[in-house]
Amino acid sequence: MRGRRKFLINSLLSTGLVLPASVRSMAAGSQPKERHKPLILSTWNHGMPANDKAWEVLDAEGSILDAVEQGVKVTELDLTNLSVGLQGLPDREGITTLDASIMKGDGSCGSVAFVRQVKHPISLARMVMENTPHVMLAGEGARQFAIANGFPMEEEVLSPGAEKGYKDWKKHSEYKPVINIENHDTIGMIGLDAKGNMAGSCTTSGLAFKMHGRVGDSPIIGAGLFVDNEVGAATATGLGESIIRICGSFLIVELMRQGRTPQEACEEAVKRLIAKNKGIEGIQAGFLALNKDGEYGAFAVHPGFNFAMHYRNGRALVDSGSNF
Ligand code: GLY
Repeated sequence: MRGRRKFLINSLLSTGLVLPASVRSMAAGSQPKERHKPLILSTWNHGMPANDKAWEVLDAEGSILDAVEQGVKVTELDLTNLSVGLQGLPDREGITTLDASIMKGDGSCGSVAFVRQVKHPISLARMVMENTPHVMLAGEGARQFAIANGFPMEEEVLSPGAEKGYKDWKKHSEYKPVINIENHDTIGMIGLDAKGNMAGSCTTSGLAFKMHGRVGDSPIIGAGLFVDNEVGAATATGLGESIIRICGSFLIVELMRQGRTPQEACEEAVKRLIAKNKGIEGIQAGFLALNKDGEYGAFAVHPGFNFAMHYRNGRALVDSGSNF
């Protein structure tokens, strides 16, 4: 990259501003390739404070696994966020249920799905990974596992934002997944430390007003999250059903294994998703990817998906490209 142009981009990045489309493709990792190690990436605006926490953990000699767990815990507690944590929008019965997964670059992984009353499902997912012979616990079993391991059970009271959203939705009770036009939905975080170790986390309250029992992509290893130290990591956001259908995050890591850049792999995954899902005009989904060299990329079906990045000399919100 020419010196002056690189300086301008780095200055913008260090202010934490959203990069305009004119510099977006460079920042998103296409041409010329930009690399950072360590690097923390997260989906959406809410990724900024989550990344800050993850970076703090890395700076204090924490592991990349600790970093991605602690980072998304910030979002799980953010009362203004209605797509992650117990304050999130409920299902159509008025009950908030959570999904989360965590994965290390050596293939260890854990997840929880359709779990109630647990403030930090990401920590429960980590406990499944570290303290059980299983990968995934769901529903009442996951809740009982949380109780047995001393997780406090929260009261099932909707947050003010969720209650308002649910009351408004009940006026029509229309059951159809809608395109995400908010500036957030789920947090997926992927990170690389200075030694080349990778890890990722993904946590959500899922699709608003979903059927009771519905599980999205976020706790499905390979759909919402996949990490392999030998290649890279990917995470997803948006309508979970569309992402599960193509094993989105696994697909991206495998495309990178075959030589695609993270940006090319995300674009190919979006192409596949569009081909395999009917009614694409009503579906938003986006992918974020990072390879083991610290190169990154992102792409979505529709405009509006952005991601947060944090590296040694800066932090930024970057608009992803989109198909339409
Ligand atoms: N991507 C979150 C969900 O569909 O549940």
